[in-house]
Amino acid sequence: MSIKYEPLAITKSRQACNFTRKEMELEDLMIAAATALGFVSLCKNLLAFARWLHAMFLRKPKNLHDYGSWAVVTGPTDGIGNALAFELASKGLNLVLVGRNPNKLEATSSELRERYGTTIQVKTVIADFAKLSGEEIAAAVTGATEGLDIGLLVNNAGIAYPYPRYFHEVDQELMESILRVNLNAVVWVTKGVIDGMLKKKRGAILNIGSASSVYLSSYPLQTLYASTKTFMAIFSRSISLEYKEAGIDIQCQVPLFIATKMTMLRRRSMLVPSPEMFSGASVRWIGHERQCNPYWLHAVQGFVLHAIDAFTVWYGQRYLKWMREEGLKDDGIL
Ligand SMILES: NC(=O)c1ccc[n+]([C@@H]2O[C@H](COP(=O)([O-])OP(=O)(O)OC[C@H]3O[C@@H](n4cnc5c(N)ncnc54)[C@H](OP(=O)(O)O)[C@@H]3O)[C@@H](O)[C@H]2O)c1
Repeated sequence: MSIKYEPLAITKSRQACNFTRKEMELEDLMIAAATALGFVSLCKNLLAFARWLHAMFLRKPKNLHDYGSWAVVTGPTDGIGNALAFELASKGLNLVLVGRNPNKLEATSSELRERYGTTIQVKTVIADFAKLSGEEIAAAVTGATEGLDIGLLVNNAGIAYPYPRYFHEVDQELMESILRVNLNAVVWVTKGVIDGMLKKKRGAILNIGSASSVYLSSYPLQTLYASTKTFMAIFSRSISLEYKEAGIDIQCQVPLFIATKMTMLRRRSMLVPSPEMFSGASVRWIGHERQCNPYWLHAVQGFVLHAIDAFTVWYGQRYLKWMREEGLKDDGIL
């Protein structure tokens, strides 16, 4: 038996060759895995985009009468709530309007009756959310809606600072009003209608939140406003799961700027729609996703602003500081 001896250099180069082949196999495997992952992620995004296009432009809106023949709208005397009240009336829904100003409530209901005549009924409830306790709000809503087939609640009433300011500059009255109107009232008005919806096993709730709490990581100089809207978003998403099986569809819409007295933006454009443009889009989404942005250009803006969050927050803060200074000048403080 003869033993073959290989020179050490040849053995080492063979080992190196084997190692390189293994490395290459691993590399190929990693490239294949990355390609597959990329493909899956691309398909996921394309699917999400296709779903969004369908929901935004093709999907049939729900028949709101299936929820009930009456809708309760808070803050119907101006801006988005006013436009939503008219939009819902145009669909033949009867309205319970909940507002703080009797004259504005009367003007809104007269205009609705003039436009829609006897096709709809309108009731009004006077409730200043900044002054009433939660229980008083719930009792007022329950009392006014007793015996009515309430299918839809729109929690729309809301306030922000008149102009941006630092937290320590928010006086006690404004602070309490924001917490009571944006947060307390949403909870207690919902409490006022939910038992009725549960009994019927059908209903829908639309909460008007804000993009400030969803697309951006921070919203300085409107801190309390954005924080109450964050509450509204998580409140809506969570409660919607609690009552899904009970037949109640709960949704939070999170618009960006709309030309209303709250924003003091009078110029309407594609990016800053009128309340009417927004409300037309808004009602098409009622009863669908738990959270959405119904106006398509808002959804696009939100996507972009979120993608460049650091820049958006930096630029937003600069803009809000400028608005604060303008507000202080108007008030004669600067
Ligand atoms: N405009 C936007 O760019 C924008 C963007 C995102 C979200 N939102 C949200 O959309 C909702 C409506 O805003 P908007 O822009 O339409 O505001 P708006 O034009 O100022 O209207 C607000 C409505 O809420 C009512 N309201 C205010 N304080 C109240 C109180 N203490 N008790 C009862 N009702 C009260 C107002 O009544 P009066 O008529 O008596 O003042 C009015 O009907 C708010 O929740 C807001 O946060 C607005």
